[in-house]
Amino acid sequence: MDEIYKSKWISAKGSADNAVFEYSKRFFAHKKIKKATLCSSAIGVYTAKINGANADVYPLAPGWTMYQYRVQYQKTDVSSLIKEGENVISLSVGRGFLCQAVSHDGTPRTLLPGLDPSGTAVICSLDLLYDDGSTENISTDGTWLVGETKWRSCDMYDGDVYDSTFIPPSPVSASVLPAGTETLVFQEGCEIGEHERFGVKEVILTPRGETVLDFGQNITGYLQIKVRATAGVCRLTYGEVLDKDGNFYRDNYRAAKAQTTIICGGGEFVFKPKFSFYGFRYVRVDEWNGELIPDDICAVAVYSNMERIGNFHCSHDGLNKLYENVIWGQKGNFLDVPTDCPQRDERMGWTGDAQVFSSCAAKNFDVLRFFEKWLSDMRACQKDDGRIPVVVPSYWARTSAAWSDAGVIIPYNLYMQYGDARIISDNYDMMRRWIDYLRNNFDDYIADKRHFGDWLALDVPDEYSGKTPKEFIAVAFCARSTELFIEMSKILGKEYEKYSEFYDFCRDVIRRDFSDESAYEASHGDSSLFTQTYYVLRLSFGLYDSDGERAELSEKLNDMVLGCGTHLTTGFVGTPYLLFALSDNGYTKTAYSLLLRKEYPSWLYQVSRGATTMWEHWDGIKENGDLWDDKMNSFNHYAYGSVGDWMYSVMAGIKPARAGYGEVVFEPAVDKRLSSVLASIKTPHGTLISKWEICGNNVKFTFTVPENVPASAVIFGEKYKLSAGENVIDVKLP
Ligand code: BGC
Repeated sequence: MDEIYKSKWISAKGSADNAVFEYSKRFFAHKKIKKATLCSSAIGVYTAKINGANADVYPLAPGWTMYQYRVQYQKTDVSSLIKEGENVISLSVGRGFLCQAVSHDGTPRTLLPGLDPSGTAVICSLDLLYDDGSTENISTDGTWLVGETKWRSCDMYDGDVYDSTFIPPSPVSASVLPAGTETLVFQEGCEIGEHERFGVKEVILTPRGETVLDFGQNITGYLQIKVRATAGVCRLTYGEVLDKDGNFYRDNYRAAKAQTTIICGGGEFVFKPKFSFYGFRYVRVDEWNGELIPDDICAVAVYSNMERIGNFHCSHDGLNKLYENVIWGQKGNFLDVPTDCPQRDERMGWTGDAQVFSSCAAKNFDVLRFFEKWLSDMRACQKDDGRIPVVVPSYWARTSAAWSDAGVIIPYNLYMQYGDARIISDNYDMMRRWIDYLRNNFDDYIADKRHFGDWLALDVPDEYSGKTPKEFIAVAFCARSTELFIEMSKILGKEYEKYSEFYDFCRDVIRRDFSDESAYEASHGDSSLFTQTYYVLRLSFGLYDSDGERAELSEKLNDMVLGCGTHLTTGFVGTPYLLFALSDNGYTKTAYSLLLRKEYPSWLYQVSRGATTMWEHWDGIKENGDLWDDKMNSFNHYAYGSVGDWMYSVMAGIKPARAGYGEVVFEPAVDKRLSSVLASIKTPHGTLISKWEICGNNVKFTFTVPENVPASAVIFGEKYKLSAGENVIDVKLP
């Protein structure tokens, strides 16, 4: 067990005020050092230094977890930083993710016994191993000093104030908290890293006279600025888009000020926030200390270190850009926790958003470790009666269909992608308790008006929840989660009989209350049930009793899509399944038409409006250039990026025939509006590549199969057996 478990949590008076505090300790290394290891953590986010040099703890450590129950600690080799003789270790802490943790809950919470509900704290243990084999340990305790820093304010929503002229008063003794270390867990998730860097692409002078820097890509991260030696103030404000007149726009950040203020005293230095991040493409220069030199500023993308495993490219530039935006949507929102968006006063682990995007996410990047850690937090915040909350880390007890079902659907999706049954066994109890909650509270749960519904669907004007009745969505997801839970129970060899009964019961409810059009109209006075999302869910969740009924439902969906001018009306719930519901049921052409549509509403509409990430709303920027309501208009929301799943699975046709692609089927859907598609996915069994090209009257398919992976292809209905290596199949275009 690491020595950190014997250390003390320490804090400072006033640490709730957003200023960054530095905790430090002078110590002697009495002999030559062989190895030095730092274990450290914080409530808030922290940096660590030894003798003024960075100890290489990752940005925004220790990440965001259910701090009441779980705080990750990091272990760093600092051998090269310690010298024989006097040394100083210092840890600086800002509030970091605590702004979300506190602001969305009505009541203050205790994150650590004895800690001010909004305050920060640190803990560490420095283990020294001397050349002669003896050891020494330096741990946080009442002998540490704490003082204010030049970081006068750091808040993930409001931004940073750094005053280089501020001379901190002498440090005082830190206070030792009466908290134990039982909540500490060793780093579980992917560490956070700095990734791409973007220089200023253009300096824009807007019609309103603002100077705006355009970095060309909407990212999550921060700026790195070389501050020149002129006394004065630099103040910068972050934004995602310009308005229709070309002016800087940031009202969609709502209460988040998202501003960096640097007070310069004349010395030259490099500024980079260490305790906050922003979602932005544009930066407005409100004040600047002297001449603005664009080369002095760059934007740094910050997100969890995940291995890229999926790639897609085709002959259509718009689709390639869409795919790139899907990737950036993931990069921008996989910063330790899968967030809804990275810019406004939200940035929370909304479970529904993660649920709809998880299958695509798991193909783009290896996200197993990322989700394992987040699911640990989900387990930690599951209520005693089995409720899974709508945000994780959570401060609410409320549930919603399709959001809370993330607890079942995400482990299933991860299992299908990576074939590792541990993700099922680790979360099995949580899933069982959720399904039990649904069984025990079915009537109340279904009738709960607070379900989010088909969030942001277009089938009813100016209404967040869409038209599809919430009760129907709730029953459909009860059935879906239960069905997947049964499948996972079988994989683990667990009993599932009573859940089969519940599953049949849910299907009966669909049959009885939600399938007869005239009966529904007679009892409800309208036909609001029969939306695109309604048909999509029934088809995708297998909620039909015969092939005939399935054909009828898919024909209706197809007619409905074509009938409104070949466009979608679905929201968060229906969209991820929409194209699959069409292509799995004989309407691939319609699915392609939806994907290739450029006019509003469609995926390519936002591409044609210059999007570089995925928008929250189909009409984030309307056709006349007006912006959707400031209250809910993120330009970096990955949910609709779930379409990337269809690009891999149907356009390129890469499908696991067994979990983890231990066996694979290539079944690409060719459409003459494209001339080629190429995609690859690195799986636990090797890399799969699928390619097709239309050459004259023929289509040439090339499938690459790793050794020892049974594989087949289905091309225009005909089956082919594939062997390891490259398989080329040339067939006539029907
Ligand atoms: C978030 C969504 C989330 C929703 C719940 C919003 O504020 O940004 O993405 O899923 O609330 O409906």
